[in-house]
Amino acid sequence: MLTVSCKTQEATRRATPAASTKSPGQIVYERSCARCHGLSLQGKGNTPPIDQPKLASLGDQRLRLTIASGKGKMPAFGGLSTAQVDSLINYLRAMT
Ligand code: HEC
Repeated sequence: MLTVSCKTQEATRRATPAASTKSPGQIVYERSCARCHGLSLQGKGNTPPIDQPKLASLGDQRLRLTIASGKGKMPAFGGLSTAQVDSLINYLRAMT
């Protein structure tokens, strides 16, 4: 009995490799935003962090506009689909 349950756990581990645990939003963030805002949204050099007060003050509407049109030295990301922006915003809110 014990051997069977060990084998089951082993199979479960193998079925969920680390790469698949990234959410779609995290993938978009790491590809488009992390080089400036940092992997943990902490900011980098002259780029400000993306933190909870900032997200709360912007709200979804302004956040979407910032992503789609850019702001100051931040480039526009108009090429992202609505679904990509949705998952990106979910990721940002979950991380802050
Ligand atoms: C080339 C560097 C760069 C990249 C890439 C970048 N940003 Fe920015 N971001 C900035 C800078 C610089 C600012 C400050 C802009 C300002 O206030 O003038 C900023 C500001 C912001 C703000 C605050 C906007 C506000 O109104 O205060 C948010 C939110 C944000 N970025 C999210 C993102 C997201 C999400 C991505 C990925 C889609 C991203 N950024 C990619 C450089 C970057």
